[in-house]
Amino acid sequence: MAAERLRNRPCGGRYGDIVQSIGNTPLVELPNLSPKPGVRIWAKLESRNPTGSVKDRVARALIEDAEEKGAIAPGQTILEPTSGNTGISLALICKLKGYRLKVVMPENVTPERTQLLSMYGAEIVYSPGDQGSNGAVAMALEMASADPSCYMPYQYGNQANPNAHYNGTAVEILEELDEVAAFVAGLGTGGTLMGNGRRLKETFGDAVKIVAAEPMQGEPVQGLRSLDDGFIPPIIDISLLDRKIFVTNHDAIVWTRKLLDEEGLFAGVSTGAIASIAVRIAGELEEGNVVFVVADDGWKYLSSGIYTLPVEEVENLESTVWW
Ligand SMILES: Cc1ncc(COP(=O)(O)O)c(C=O)c1O
Repeated sequence: MAAERLRNRPCGGRYGDIVQSIGNTPLVELPNLSPKPGVRIWAKLESRNPTGSVKDRVARALIEDAEEKGAIAPGQTILEPTSGNTGISLALICKLKGYRLKVVMPENVTPERTQLLSMYGAEIVYSPGDQGSNGAVAMALEMASADPSCYMPYQYGNQANPNAHYNGTAVEILEELDEVAAFVAGLGTGGTLMGNGRRLKETFGDAVKIVAAEPMQGEPVQGLRSLDDGFIPPIIDISLLDRKIFVTNHDAIVWTRKLLDEEGLFAGVSTGAIASIAVRIAGELEEGNVVFVVADDGWKYLSSGIYTLPVEEVENLESTVWW
């Protein structure tokens, strides 16, 4: 019976290769963050994917979708703009499936991202740091139109991105919980919110609230975007969101540290932003399950120092110090 329960779960199960082991991530309760006994807060640990982020699901879906459509063949160059995680996931998958990968990314992302991309053999093209991920998107679109032999999956406009969540992440959440009062995730491409949002609304109707954590304009949090910055990814259907709540860079950092200190959860900075909103929503409820997504783990942000500084120093940090 125990063996049956562990089938295809991260601590058990058996997979033919690392790509097949993507997904099936744990859903972990965070009891110390719960504001009242009837409200339970759950973290979906997408950080437990092979390269440490939610984007492993998406990268696999983007490449397999292109393969199924006959749009790519091994040996071809894949080109994608990314703030880091999608690039790292694509790099792993392209390496194993025999594609070349070129990623366009802002020059001011943390050095760990560059190292991880190089480690899997990707070529990196840097876009101006002050233009953020919008600058990377613009540059990649230009490069793709200049070189038609490249294939650009374009996660911002490709339905395979939300579908990876509709057919994966959300199904796994529903296998574990009979009721979800709120689902909270960060807004990057919008894939996580759209895919999970659609499946959870189909299951629970209006009883589930889909909540986006959005950075304040001009206060970037790596992996997230403000819709006020002038680019709304084509896969986003705003009407699926019940709420969109702003998070400051400062709160993202403070909550990243709270997750570590109070729950032992070593997560990336966007997860701090997302957790702060999840706890706020939980405080507004009388009962129910609040699920939030841990988009990645903390390894790529270690150089920022936020995990090891005395907590008072973290509280006093000026925002936008590292990116
Ligand atoms: C660290 C991190 N958090 C959150 C997100 C947001 O996910 P999505 O693109 O599905 O909106 C991303 C996406 O790039 C990310 O890299």
